[in-house]
Amino acid sequence: MTDKIPKDIKQGIEKLVKELTYHCYRYYVLDSPVISDEEYDRLYLHLKELEEKYHYILPDSPTQRVGASPLDKFEKVRHTEPMLSLDNAFSHDEVREFDTRVKRFLKSDEDIEYTVEPKYDGLAIELTYRNGLLYRASTRGDGYEGEDVTQNIRTIKSVPLKIEGGGEIPDEIDIRGEVYMDIDEFEALNKEREKKGEPLFANPRNAAAGSVRQLDPSITAARKLHLACYGIGAVTGMEFKSQREFIKWLEKARFPIPAIVKREKGIQKIINIIGELEEKRRTFSFETDGSVIKVNDFDLQRLLGIKTREPRWAIAYKFPAHQGTTRIKEILPSVGRTGVITPVAVFEPVRIGGVTVSRSTLHNWDEMERKDIKVGDTVVVERAGDVIPHVVTVIKDKRAGKEQPFPIPERCPVCGSKVVREEGEVAVRCVGLNCAAQVQERIRHFASRGAMDIEGLGEKNVELLYSRGLIRLFVDMYRLKKEYLLDLPRFAEKSAQNLIDAIEKSKHTTLSRFLYALGIIHVGEYAAKLLAKNFEKLEDLYRVKPERIMEIRQMGEKIAYSISDFFNDPENIKTLDTLKSLGLNITNPDFAGKKKEKLPLEGLTFVITGTLSKPRDEVENLIESLGGHASSSVSKSTNYLIVGEEPGSKLQKAKALGVKTLSYEDLLKIIGK
Ligand code: IVH
Repeated sequence: MTDKIPKDIKQGIEKLVKELTYHCYRYYVLDSPVISDEEYDRLYLHLKELEEKYHYILPDSPTQRVGASPLDKFEKVRHTEPMLSLDNAFSHDEVREFDTRVKRFLKSDEDIEYTVEPKYDGLAIELTYRNGLLYRASTRGDGYEGEDVTQNIRTIKSVPLKIEGGGEIPDEIDIRGEVYMDIDEFEALNKEREKKGEPLFANPRNAAAGSVRQLDPSITAARKLHLACYGIGAVTGMEFKSQREFIKWLEKARFPIPAIVKREKGIQKIINIIGELEEKRRTFSFETDGSVIKVNDFDLQRLLGIKTREPRWAIAYKFPAHQGTTRIKEILPSVGRTGVITPVAVFEPVRIGGVTVSRSTLHNWDEMERKDIKVGDTVVVERAGDVIPHVVTVIKDKRAGKEQPFPIPERCPVCGSKVVREEGEVAVRCVGLNCAAQVQERIRHFASRGAMDIEGLGEKNVELLYSRGLIRLFVDMYRLKKEYLLDLPRFAEKSAQNLIDAIEKSKHTTLSRFLYALGIIHVGEYAAKLLAKNFEKLEDLYRVKPERIMEIRQMGEKIAYSISDFFNDPENIKTLDTLKSLGLNITNPDFAGKKKEKLPLEGLTFVITGTLSKPRDEVENLIESLGGHASSSVSKSTNYLIVGEEPGSKLQKAKALGVKTLSYEDLLKIIGK
């Protein structure tokens, strides 16, 4: 069949396959493309068309990476040479001990040459090439027998379908490497899964493994997987002398190799390199939990041989761990300075990266729900660098059924006040004015310039007073005595007296200032003024209903509930009463209702018709400001119709209803203007 294809077409297809493979290599292995994505797509489509037209498809054609149909199950594959695991070293001393063992075994005093590579945290894979073509890809499995995942591995663009590069090609070779997912890619994948309500992967390794072990290769193809080749199994028709030589060959043959491969003689130099790698790990796009140290010389490797499952010639140096597994003993609600309540997990202590971790914030209830964290759960905890520890995931398999969810507490654990959570907000807050957890922040705000303006009660002094136990509750501020202050480092006779005087002075204040100073959520200076206009005394706000607040124009639901929550909290009322008993004296010059009694137009309804000597809305405002009501239509309840030039039909209606009429000038006379 292929014989009938014109020679130039065949050559054209072969050339296109070569070209595309090269560009794929530039893009996915070297990360340095030389043509645009569009140009690549154009060549790819062209190749696909030719292949379909002439039914001439090369086994290493890039079109053959995708499109295989889903499997029922994976076939088993026996590895020609077992895929071993590695011994671990957790300290530099243990790395030195490894070197001592190697030398002892080889009965040598000489420095040994080693290579160092990052340890990739993914899934170990064996790629078998026959006569230069990818024949099979298999998972490690139990080391002896794995699963055939060829059609999935083919979808990984950095996996060569054919050994190229112009170097020597073995008849058959087993190349080992790690399939992994970049951290960014892992996060993006999880975000997408979260959106779709699919379970999240705990880490990039699980994501990579889950992506490779898919019966449907189109799923694998959609995941951006990478490969790093670092090892050799069985090989025929060619010989390699060392790890270094093998890696060089891999590189020339266009295989992706580890980001860093170093070679040095003597263990101290190797230890220096693993130190450098640890420094650099944060700059890597992939996750690495250590370095792999290998005896470079393959003859020496053979001499050293295998212990049981691990070779004597290699060791994995594990970086001090970022993660640990532990159990959540309890969850505590913790109240912050601003009243926000945060759930905090208390763990069975676990050592992570040389530090014992026994608690960590769970951030908020949304986050806790998202991760489905319960008391009693076994969890993975991460502590990266200086970052505070956090729970990465729950190990659901470890659940025994006794785990308990931790709902939002109804009362503040510190002061017993009500806990509120506004709709659409993540934060859960305690409304307690007297809440000891919030006292520093509350007093700082209370004393601030726009609020009570208590000089000498700034952040530093509040902190000092708090640290000396002089203020634990909001009301303690009014219980301060000069002699207490004199014991403190920052106070002398005069400064102590000044502060006491300033606090004393603040007891005489206005309602609007005081309301603002209370720090009720959403109540700024303007809202406090509005409240003062509408409520004569502080007590009038006690147990106020949100509906009553919403009657005030410009006050919406959110603020209304916040004010109502605050003044319906019995603890807060107690605190306000205590403040009064300590001498707090509030006046309210802003209250609008007071003037009401004297307002001349109180209870009267006016309607205007025709043109007046002043703009209509100005007259209406005047009427309203004097307690009257300006309406737009005449009815039985209209008291006066104010008639201007060219009056309209309202005049007739007023006459018919017996409504009295006035001129604008008459109105002015009535109000004495
Ligand atoms: S060499 C006999 N090199 O670590 C030595 N392994 O814990 C075989 N791994 O199963 C492995 N990066 O999946 C080697 N640069 C690297 C590696 C590496 C990651 C994995 C591999 C292996 C496991 C052993």
